[in-house]
Parts: sequence; structure tokens; C-alpha cells
Amino acid sequence: MKMQNLFPKVFGLTLLCITIMVVTIFRLSPSLAISTTTPPDQLSAEEVTIAHNSAGGSLYNRLGGYNAIAAVIDDSAEKIFADPLIGKYFIGLSTNSKQRLRELLIAQFCQAAGGPCVYTGRTMKLSHTGIGEGLTNGEFYAFVNDIALALDKNGVKQPEKNQVLEFANSLRDQIVEKL
Ligand code: HEM
Repeated sequence: MKMQNLFPKVFGLTLLCITIMVVTIFRLSPSLAISTTTPPDQLSAEEVTIAHNSAGGSLYNRLGGYNAIAAVIDDSAEKIFADPLIGKYFIGLSTNSKQRLRELLIAQFCQAAGGPCVYTGRTMKLSHTGIGEGLTNGEFYAFVNDIALALDKNGVKQPEKNQVLEFANSLRDQIVEKL
């Protein structure tokens, strides 16, 4: 057989082999493929990456993992429910609604810190619009201040405390309706 006749066959076979190799590699290791998905709309890309930008591992690990975050949320909730300025908004909630709020807050902060949690609650805008005819800046900062006190109570160090509060503050525009 002449070389000229052989060339298209060899070329075709080589192309087929390369295609099979590429498809196999990407099927076995999808992380090699470039993701076209976007993060869930509850958290912006900026909020999600807040967790990864410090030395010493993810914020989730530096905070001490799930149980440590749950302890901070429990102490925050205790302070928030008893807060002289904002406690009134939680008076009517059933025990189950409070439990649900606790779970959602843990998942929200755990996910934002880069932990293995998925926040499944509503967007901050949806769940806060209309509370008390629109939450004010002062009410928002009372809430964040209660989280800060809870972080102190649990011995969270300044760099990690700053990052948690940075995340909480990043939600302000979606929650506050009045100055
Ligand atoms: C950084 C600040 C805040 C964060 C991270 C936050 C987070 C959340 C989350 C995760 C939920 C549950 C969403 C859902 O039900 O799907 C929620 C609900 C709620 N939040 Fe906030 N919140 C913040 C500020 C505030 C403030 C300032 C107030 C009032 C002063 C407030 C009052 C409420 C109330 C009453 C609910 C329950 C709504 C319902 O059950 O329908 N939150 N919040």
C-alpha cells in the first residue's frame, strides 16, 4: 500500500485515540474541566471567597469547625432574643421557628467560612423585607454586635473575628431598608 493512501487512515486513528483519551480524563476527573456554574444566589462570589483568603487554612477550620460555629450561633441567638432593641422581633416566633433559624444561621456562616455546609434558606432580602416596617441600620448593628459579643465569649481570635464580622456586614444592604 502506498504511503499517500496510508496517511489519512493513520491520521484518523490518531485523532480518534486523542478524543477517547480526552473524554476519559474529563469523565474521571471533572475538576479538570472549567466550571460554568455560578454560586447560589444567597451568597455572592465575594462572600463565598471571604473564607479562603487567609493563611492557615479555611476560616471554617480556623474557627474550630461545625461545633465551634454552632456554639457561636447559640450564644448570638441568646443575646439577640434578649436584646433590648431587636429582641421584640423574635418574641412571636414558635420554638420550631427559632430552631429553624438557628440551623439556617449555622449553615449560612459555616458555608461562608468555607465549611461543608449548604445554606438552604431564603435570600437575606426576601426573609427581612418588611420586618418592623423595614429594619434600620441601628437594628442591623445591634444584631451584628450580638454576634461580636458571642465571638468574644467563645474566645475567637481577632483575625477570625474580623472575617466573620466582615461577612455579616456584607449582608447589610440586603437587610437594612431604613437609615
Ligand atoms: C448579619 C445580620 C443578619 C443575618 C446573618 C441574618 C440571618 C437570617 C437568616 C439566615 C434567617 C432565616 C431565613 C429563612 O427563614 O429562610 C433570618 C430570618 C430572620 N431574621 Fe435575620 N439576619 C440578620 C439580621 C437581622 C436583623 C437585624 C433582624 C431584626 C432586628 C433580623 C430578624 C430576623 C427575623 C425576625 C427572621 C425570621 C423571619 C421569618 O421567620 O420569616 N435579622 N435571618
